[in-house]
Amino acid sequence: MFDRPGSDSQAVLVSLDFGEPGYAESTEELVLLTKSACIGVAAVLRGRRQRPDPAYFAGSGKVDEIAAALAENKAGLVIFNHELSPAQERNLEKKLRVRVIDRVSLILDIFAQRARSHEGKLQVELAQLEHLATRLVRGWSHLERQKGGIGMRGPGETQLETDRRLLGKRVKVLKDKLARHANQREVQRRARQRANVLSVSLVGYTNAGKSTLFNALTRAGTYAADQLFATLDTTTRRVFLPGGAPVVISDTVGFIRELPHTLVAAFRATLEEAVQADVLLHVVDAGSPSRTEQIAAVNAVLAEIGAAHIPQILVYNKIDLTGDSARVERDEYGKICAVRISAQTGAGLDLLRSILEESAAATRTPVARSAAA
Ligand code: GTP
Repeated sequence: MFDRPGSDSQAVLVSLDFGEPGYAESTEELVLLTKSACIGVAAVLRGRRQRPDPAYFAGSGKVDEIAAALAENKAGLVIFNHELSPAQERNLEKKLRVRVIDRVSLILDIFAQRARSHEGKLQVELAQLEHLATRLVRGWSHLERQKGGIGMRGPGETQLETDRRLLGKRVKVLKDKLARHANQREVQRRARQRANVLSVSLVGYTNAGKSTLFNALTRAGTYAADQLFATLDTTTRRVFLPGGAPVVISDTVGFIRELPHTLVAAFRATLEEAVQADVLLHVVDAGSPSRTEQIAAVNAVLAEIGAAHIPQILVYNKIDLTGDSARVERDEYGKICAVRISAQTGAGLDLLRSILEESAAATRTPVARSAAA
């Protein structure tokens, strides 16, 4: 998304407290996100404000502080833990003379680095272009001036119109390609439904341990790393439960609070796997102090993609770190609500498999009945 030569590999992070809950965790998360993008953290500057400054987002004292931290650490990049308007970004860049980006751009950059499959790359490019499109509309009016009609531009067309037209064209091409991928997926899904196979999707906050659990359940070599958004492409595998029932398990992209809207939209096709699942295994990092907020953030994204109605089992992972014992938790009616496991040590995986067996039996019955009808 942005060039990172030389001193750009060291960044000064800025996180301002507007009195909203989760400030400390969100700042911590920015540090993790920055490291996940392979950028060094030179300094983290914090501060309190009532509301953002319209021109620079931060106050003038804070901007001086940023300049001093940049000089002291020979850093070449500033990352704000907030969404900056294009004008604020430009004003800051003029004043600080280095690249300034916001949280959304940082997340998009990580996605761009990580996308591996053809579809993943298309989705990231679409998200980047749509992010750029909002900036074209809002902030690039300085480009709106007449230029000669050489090349692809029509006579009298302004640079801004040309940019918009080209962007719109590329967005359409990407959307068409993604739609074809989605169709293919739909065909595979229908075939699975006909075969009466339970489909399970792993969802969860980034770094909760979805890929590790996916590997443990399927013994496939999915990339698991202590980095945010290690998995971008939905991976699907068929496994057989101990009782012999087949299950299709999908690993999905990690969720994060304030997931950029452009990304949710671009990843809708991939996340559709989650929307169509019979059961969602919502993986939670049981050792994280902000697990409650993380669960809420995941549920918010699920609601946004239309997956709020799908039966969900909370999988509290990493119990080897919390000292909890592996167990299944049921509500007063005996319905399963949570299971505590460690994907890494394998503790509780047998419980999880038997839960899936129970779900397979419960979910398949109505399908089998309607198929027979
Ligand atoms: P995203 O790709 O960001 O969505 O991450 P993810 O949810 O797929 O997480 P992943 O499986 O990559 O695991 C994240 C980190 O947690 C890795 O360093 C794993 O080794 C670690 N981890 C996963 N499960 C466990 C566990 O049960 N116990 C411990 N101690 N660490 C775990």
